[in-house]
Amino acid sequence: MADTAQFLDTITKGYSTKGDAITLGTAMLNGEPVEGAYVNVPLKTLNRHGLIAGATGTGKTKTLQILSEHLSNNGIPVLMMDIKGDLSGIAKPGEEKSFITERHAKIGLPYEAKGFPVELMSLSKQHGVRLRSTVSEFGPVLFSRVLDLNDTQTGIMSVIFKYCDDNNMPLLDLKDIKKVLQYITDEGKEEIEKEYGRISTASTGAILRKIIELEQQDANLFFGELSFEIDDLMRIDSEGKGYVNIMRLTDIQDKPKLFSTFMLSLLAEIYNQMPEKGDADRPELVIFIDEAHLIFDEASKTLLDQIETIVKLIRSKGVGLFFVTQNPTDVPNGVLSQLGLKVQHALRAFTATDRKAIKLTAENYPISDFYDTDEVITQLGTGEALITALNEKGIPTPLAATMLRAPMSRMDILTEQEISEINNSSKLVKKYAEEIDRESACEILTKKIEVITAQQQQEEQQKAEEKARKQTTRSSRTTSTSSTLEKQIIKTVTSATFIRGVFGVLNKMFK
Ligand SMILES: Nc1ncnc2c1ncn2[C@@H]1O[C@H](COP(=O)(O)OP(=O)(O)OP(=O)(O)O)[C@@H](O)[C@H]1O
Ligand SMILES: [Mg+2]
Repeated sequence: MADTAQFLDTITKGYSTKGDAITLGTAMLNGEPVEGAYVNVPLKTLNRHGLIAGATGTGKTKTLQILSEHLSNNGIPVLMMDIKGDLSGIAKPGEEKSFITERHAKIGLPYEAKGFPVELMSLSKQHGVRLRSTVSEFGPVLFSRVLDLNDTQTGIMSVIFKYCDDNNMPLLDLKDIKKVLQYITDEGKEEIEKEYGRISTASTGAILRKIIELEQQDANLFFGELSFEIDDLMRIDSEGKGYVNIMRLTDIQDKPKLFSTFMLSLLAEIYNQMPEKGDADRPELVIFIDEAHLIFDEASKTLLDQIETIVKLIRSKGVGLFFVTQNPTDVPNGVLSQLGLKVQHALRAFTATDRKAIKLTAENYPISDFYDTDEVITQLGTGEALITALNEKGIPTPLAATMLRAPMSRMDILTEQEISEINNSSKLVKKYAEEIDRESACEILTKKIEVITAQQQQEEQQKAEEKARKQTTRSSRTTSTSSTLEKQIIKTVTSATFIRGVFGVLNKMFK
């Protein structure tokens, strides 16, 4: 009994907060919630990022849903990366089934069914707000990181961006960048060398190969206009609830490169666009990345470094990032060490490797007088988790095995009909629906190549006429056949030049 009183005292002191907070549930001792031991997470610390981990089916996605609902309720917009397509239910009120009533009776919190304002977004042709970004917006450094270019190749990328900037040629989509690469190794070779120095064909070929690799993951759906404005993620509805923006990514599960490219560009853009926030009372935006191992799995070392840097910096802009994944080891250490809120759902100990991983996970949590952490991790039920957060002063809170509240919104997905209703009434869907292909580097260079070709053609023709004139003076009898022949040759030469122009880079590549 004394234990329970001591436990209640530890939890209430550790999780007390003066400012606004989200009550996630009630702390448990010996597997049962202790009355009044509420686990509160201050809004103020949600820009300090977090992790939701646990074995499959233990309640990670529902925890993400609970956090998002309470953020929205507090007027904070949310962005969710919905990889499995199971988050849309947040738009509609939940149903109070008996297991929810029982859960809430145990944790001593009232249950309320409620839906939240939702905007559905997509990277591809799935219905929803289309998200796009231009190559220019990436900038040479980030674009090079995404392609995993080496230093020499990154240097060339910087030249390309500079050249396009100097010549007012917007780099919008992958077509543009490919055209510039082709141009600088062919028709524009001399022009570029004069201005910016020699560029090796081997390097441009390597860059082109990397771009094609990205294209094979359908990245051309993502690069282009109208490019997405970050402000559109920050909307609040007429009742003061933050919008929950759900990125539907079910169709890019097997395209990790596209996914990490998109995530990185989005984070960089948010970082660039948002003002410094300093020590604010609440975050401006919270981003949840479900199945987060997908961004890290195939990311190169440079990409990982970039992610780590952005995670570190974006906090000062009032943006919180939450990674949701099965095993904490899915998240690189550099990122893991920056996470303020940790929600560890149950892990299963099937093998020796599992047991080792559990021990390691347990060691990353604060030591508790009340729990044997590695044991508790395997004993947690569905919708229960070990939690440690940061209090208002930024100090880690005591470890709490928590029975979580249930989501207020629907735990199941929306119907096709409900999805259509949301999309049909969305202003953003209309705003971003149109695909714009305005004049950019590709069109400008195509014209330029045409002009160069025409000039060459004219020069050849002049030469031919000159030659013909000379021949006429020698023999008037051969004139007509000769000029026909010359014309034929010119035609062949010109089209050959043109073909080399178009395919030169490719030929060199595949040699
Ligand atoms: N907080 C909760 N309140 C009530 N029920 C819950 C809660 N958390 C989880 N559940 C129940 O557990 C089921 C599985 O939860 P969830 O989908 O969140 O698991 P998950 O860890 O995300 O699984 P996966 O790894 O397969 O994505 C839910 O459909 C729900 O029935
Ligand atoms: Mg899940």
